[in-house]
Amino acid sequence: MDSFEINKIIAAILLTALIVIGIGKFADVLFHVEKPKESAYQIEGLEIVSNEKKSDNNVKEIAQVDIAQLLSLGDLAHGEKVFKKCSACHMIASDGKNMIGPNLWGVIGRTAGSISDYKYSKAMVAYGKEWSFEEMNSYLIKPQAYIKGTKMAFAGLRKEKDRASVILYMNSKSATPKPLP
Ligand code: HEC
Repeated sequence: MDSFEINKIIAAILLTALIVIGIGKFADVLFHVEKPKESAYQIEGLEIVSNEKKSDNNVKEIAQVDIAQLLSLGDLAHGEKVFKKCSACHMIASDGKNMIGPNLWGVIGRTAGSISDYKYSKAMVAYGKEWSFEEMNSYLIKPQAYIKGTKMAFAGLRKEKDRASVILYMNSKSATPKPLP
């Protein structure tokens, strides 16, 4: 092998190295081009946050709705269906047991966090108000927003008809149902 051939080999290696580095740089350029896309996603995320704020405002508006009018949207049969979502965690019977959540027999008109053999969150005990129709409606829209720190892991019932119906259903499951407003 003469030195000319060795030079050719070295040249070939250098060229290869250059191409590899070149591809790397090119990839870098591509990578940098992608970065703005990432921040564009972040902006979308921010939009979602602001949507949530909007729906929080909606929640407040709904909470101010006339309760008699709201309850008039409900019916017992539909309430029984809606309660299926609750029955994963709650019984609602006079001889019902506490499960993940407390037995809800007679809950309308009862003081929040007052079943003696159920271990409530501190938040629920501290809340301690009477479960009126109004309070129950506000709570069920978004439980964790209404009573911060509640351990009830349930997203809430967005539809007025669902809340009205399940409230009527719970009121019927009591020794002393409360008169409707
Ligand atoms: C994933 C389980 C789960 C589901 C589903 C669920 N809950 Fe609960 N619920 C709980 C837990 C746990 C508590 C106790 C909350 C605490 O101590 O903070 C609770 C507490 C309550 C309370 C307060 C009771 C009291 O004695 O003060 C009410 C009212 C209630 N739930 C209603 C409902 C209704 C109505 C539904 C269906 C629309 C529902 N829950 C769905 C787990 C659940």
